[in-house]
Amino acid sequence: MMQRFLVASAMLLILLASQIFWVGQVRSWVKSLIPSSVWRRRVALAVLVAYVVLLSYNLLPLLLGVALDRLSAIHRALSVGPTHLTLGVVLHQAHLWNWIRGAGRAEPTHLTWRAAFLQAPFQWWVFCSLLGFLIAVLFGLADRIARTARWLYRKVTQAGHAVTLPNPFSPARRRFLERSALALTTAPFVAGAYGMFYERLNLEISHRRIKIPHLPRAFEGFRIAQLSDFHIGPFMTAEEIRRYVGIANGLKPDLAALTGDFVTWDASTQFAVVDVLAGVKAPFGVYGSLGNHELWAGVEDSITRLFALRGIRILRGEQAWIRSGGEVINLLGVDYQSRSPMGPRGQRLVPEYLEGVDRLMAPGTANILLSHNPNTFDRAAEYGIDLSLAGHTHGGQVTLEFISPDLSPSRLITPYVRGWFEKPGGQLYVNRGIGTIGVPIRFDAPPEITVFELTRS
Ligand SMILES: [Fe+2]
Repeated sequence: MMQRFLVASAMLLILLASQIFWVGQVRSWVKSLIPSSVWRRRVALAVLVAYVVLLSYNLLPLLLGVALDRLSAIHRALSVGPTHLTLGVVLHQAHLWNWIRGAGRAEPTHLTWRAAFLQAPFQWWVFCSLLGFLIAVLFGLADRIARTARWLYRKVTQAGHAVTLPNPFSPARRRFLERSALALTTAPFVAGAYGMFYERLNLEISHRRIKIPHLPRAFEGFRIAQLSDFHIGPFMTAEEIRRYVGIANGLKPDLAALTGDFVTWDASTQFAVVDVLAGVKAPFGVYGSLGNHELWAGVEDSITRLFALRGIRILRGEQAWIRSGGEVINLLGVDYQSRSPMGPRGQRLVPEYLEGVDRLMAPGTANILLSHNPNTFDRAAEYGIDLSLAGHTHGGQVTLEFISPDLSPSRLITPYVRGWFEKPGGQLYVNRGIGTIGVPIRFDAPPEITVFELTRS
């Protein structure tokens, strides 16, 4: 609890520092760009109003909700029964904070004007201004270190004899450094806009041949389409998912695999996502596994039933025989499993991944596992599961993998961020998914549908 509070406070402080930093930056830009003081004031006022509106809409309900919850808890702890009227009692009775937090209001599964003009710009601004601020801090630190090193060098060399050092901070050089710093600190805003308007919706279709030497002959060339991490909501609408379903059907897979995170936080969105995914067609069936967000939204059982009503089978620690020409392959599926606490709403911590899955294995044929969390792969390979299909990471969602594979936030939770992996005993494919989480931005991690072609050779 204390740890959470400290992390949240640190993040809030960094956010505050970043906003102060950008207020200063924007002020100096406005000053240099607009000579007229009247227009400067008008622009400043417009920017201030927009900022306050966005901040109030997005942050105030959250902060007020937390504060009022605390107030209510303190009130309950201190008094056996309310003998006098307090703010906590008034607000509790009026259910005001539920209204402020938007509790009870269903998350839309289409793009609303609120999402487009109030949520998205705010999320873009907060995310990009934080990144820009961190880059500025790094730049500032590097500058300090360089200055200190030069000062020390001068002290040491001038102690013995006089030397003239070339000035690394000449006006021309300083201007260059300032411009570089400006370009780097503002780059996240441009990259964020690109990631929000273009890359987030720029679907890539990946093709992968998977070699399984003991694949039954009847399954030579068998095609599986994998879709993952839908996160239906205002930024991944039912309509957009319907478009992906159409694309997946156009790829003519023999079987379709849906590897979890159908919803994000709101249980009420499960109906819309099931409805639209019921459109996925494959002659050997549509199967799926559940993600961490089904667990956190508390919809694991209900969404499984909804899918079943629409002919889609969610495998929850179960297997399904896929039959063709008198031969079979073994399809397995597990719920989201975790070995370290993650996320705000409940956990399914397991002492060992894939406990009991070995009992579902079928010797002598191909075993294919649907598991949202790619971290189950090590155990799957130990069991000899030929192919694991996972999602969860969104391919990092916002990464700089094109510079270095280490520059991806998903590396904090798994070594298996995206793409194909192999180790003795099995193979893994981590699909980048199609939705987003946190911010509706993808960078260097476009959405993906994967088509696997199974082969013996
Ligand atoms: Fe996800």
